[in-house]
Amino acid sequence: MQDIQDMQKNNTFSFNRSDFPKDFIFGTATSSYQIEGSSLGDCGRSHWDDFAETPGNTYNQETAALACQHYNHWQQDLDLLRLGGFDAYRFSVSWARIFPNNMKQPNPKALDFYDKLVDGMLERGIQPFCCLHHWDLPSYLADKGGWRNRDTAICFAEFSSFVYRRLGDRLAGTNTVNEPWCIAWLSHFLGLHAPGLRDIRAASRAMHYVLLAHGLAMQALRAESGKNLGIILNFEKIEPIDQKPENIEAAALVEGIYNRWFLQAIFKKSYPSNVLEQLSRHMPENYELDFPIIAQKLDWLGINYYTRARIASGHAQNKLIVKQEKGDLPQTSMGWEIYPQGIHYIIRWIHQNYTKNLPLYVSENGMAWHDAVESDAVHDHRRVRYFNDHIHEVKKLVSDGIPLKGYFCWSLLDNYEWTFGYKERFGLVHVNFESQKRTPKDSFLAFKKSLST
Ligand code: FCB
Repeated sequence: MQDIQDMQKNNTFSFNRSDFPKDFIFGTATSSYQIEGSSLGDCGRSHWDDFAETPGNTYNQETAALACQHYNHWQQDLDLLRLGGFDAYRFSVSWARIFPNNMKQPNPKALDFYDKLVDGMLERGIQPFCCLHHWDLPSYLADKGGWRNRDTAICFAEFSSFVYRRLGDRLAGTNTVNEPWCIAWLSHFLGLHAPGLRDIRAASRAMHYVLLAHGLAMQALRAESGKNLGIILNFEKIEPIDQKPENIEAAALVEGIYNRWFLQAIFKKSYPSNVLEQLSRHMPENYELDFPIIAQKLDWLGINYYTRARIASGHAQNKLIVKQEKGDLPQTSMGWEIYPQGIHYIIRWIHQNYTKNLPLYVSENGMAWHDAVESDAVHDHRRVRYFNDHIHEVKKLVSDGIPLKGYFCWSLLDNYEWTFGYKERFGLVHVNFESQKRTPKDSFLAFKKSLST
């Protein structure tokens, strides 16, 4: 209690590095599309450029053409990581930047950029964790059906081995895709991310082909003697709004689609039966034959966690229509409920039911707020509290012997938050998108203090 009161007074955390094992790593995460500037350095078009330029898809019609201009400011951004005392940095490589026009001719500027970026991390004593796909699918692959097309999975494996041949010997960890639920369901069923489809057949195919892409990429990376390879999945703590049978059933379906589908395929070579009841007639023929490819052995699993979801049935006949209702917990500026116990529940559940001794990382966790700079400072006390409370849950899990090896906060910088454009700020560092000035927030300073003690 005293700890929490001190923390609120001083805007600092009530934990420090020595509360964690020596090899536990603290890092921050970003993604290529959200920070680099997709108009810089001869980057090719991705389906996110197409989606963002289509009227009505993003807040204020904002695009990531410039974003944080990290393509030009990367040295300054890496310096911030070192200043904050972080051990590791989770970045992603842009497929559309590396292969702008086709899968044959790589962009020399892109290769040079990622080479320097990785070397820059090593020079600063920061472990590079590389994500091979954080959503910037080249438009020429989207033209051929994107994630609805099995060939995209094959191309992804080629892309993965190409990148690994170039950077692999310098990476501390590599993951195939980030958040397949977003790549497939959010983007092809809910229509909220590129390519903005609302189509059950497209969604069902994407739900499978993104996993196939992961499996084929794992095989390709192993063939390159890849080390420390994983995948990053996102989870929410999903609950029915009450104990009515139809709401319990609706919550179980959402949980199946969101939390179980990808885990069950990778660790148990099957899909949840309640989800298959809804999707099986839209799935690719003989999809079951791909499970041995999908279920490649992993070296680690990354877990992204932000919030909980309270679910109710939305339609008596069509079970895929569900409603989400907020509870009474404090919310972020995006309306996401703040529920630190959820990270504890989810990680324990994954560990016990699926991953057992497999090393785990929290690969994203953080909150959005409408932060403002006042006299060169940003007093984001809500975010300090958010990190503090979630990291305390992580600490308990580590003390209980769960093999959690690190924690990455989302995000180093305020950045292009997809459909929300620049409105929603998740950074430890404030970015003025006009001047590109970076201002460390109090949450950044809280990490700096805790990580140095
Ligand atoms: C995750 C994404 C990341 C960012 C955060 C807020 O789903 O991986 O790019 O948008 O949410």
